Amino acid sequence: MAARLSRLRYSAAEWGPAMTARGVFLSFEGGEGSGKSTQISILAKTLERAGLEVVLAREPGGTSLGEAVRALLLDPATGDVDSRAELLLYEASRAQLTRELIQPALATGAVVLCDRYYDSSTAYQGYGRGLPISEIEALNSSATSGLKPDMTLLLDGDHQRGMNRATTESTDRLEAAGDEFHKRVRHGFLKIAQADSLRVKVIDAEGTPEQVAKRVLASIRTIPVLALVLAEADL
Ligand SMILES: Nc1ncnc2c1ncn2[C@@H]1O[C@H](COP(=O)(O)OP(=O)(O)OP(=O)(O)O)[C@@H](O)[C@H]1O
Ligand SMILES: [Mg+2]
Repeated sequence: MAARLSRLRYSAAEWGPAMTARGVFLSFEGGEGSGKSTQISILAKTLERAGLEVVLAREPGGTSLGEAVRALLLDPATGDVDSRAELLLYEASRAQLTRELIQPALATGAVVLCDRYYDSSTAYQGYGRGLPISEIEALNSSATSGLKPDMTLLLDGDHQRGMNRATTESTDRLEAAGDEFHKRVRHGFLKIAQADSLRVKVIDAEGTPEQVAKRVLASIRTIPVLALVLAEADL
């Protein structure tokens, strides 16, 4: 594993002019039930089979502070949360996750798979709740110290189907927010992808998990260092 990791660092520096000599940072975005967790789990297994070190992160959460924020935000008993208070709680969780988990993992050359990152604030609190996008982008930038994923996989599909999937598990506070809200969020994610098409890849989330995983892998292969390592492992 150590040899594989030092080779990844070497390859990253050599192959990707746009990449620095560090690990690879991938975020997954999309509505509730769009398949983010399912796809992260499939991709993590594939990357680990290729010998890469994979670190999983999720938002809100991923740290003690973040998990406490997550429990607070998702608990229906929390009741009405002011939109700005909600935004700042997500940003606090993000700041902690970025410094405590993501940056150190990238420094060791790992592949970090993050279940939601700052695009979710733009989509949910901005396009969904109606807070000014510029205000959210400023807070996103502060919470992340300007760190951006090398690639963001946006799992896009019919939100009603996603909601039906999601509600078979549990109905949390955000999932209860209503149809119109979720339509605005989906539209918001697509606007973000349009504005930053080099980073954000729109993945059709319809079909079986295996079909979607193939689409995810095809996008991932456009990152030279991952293409190389996957090809060497015959994956
Ligand atoms: N392509 C698929 N086809 C059918 N069912 C799926 C597919 N992908 C995931 N599922 C199922 O749908 C449900 C939601 O998927 P998953 O938890 O991966 O979504 P998510 O985007 O992580 O949701 P959340 O936002 O609630 O965390 C799960 O029960 C999962 O097994
Ligand atoms: Mg999930």
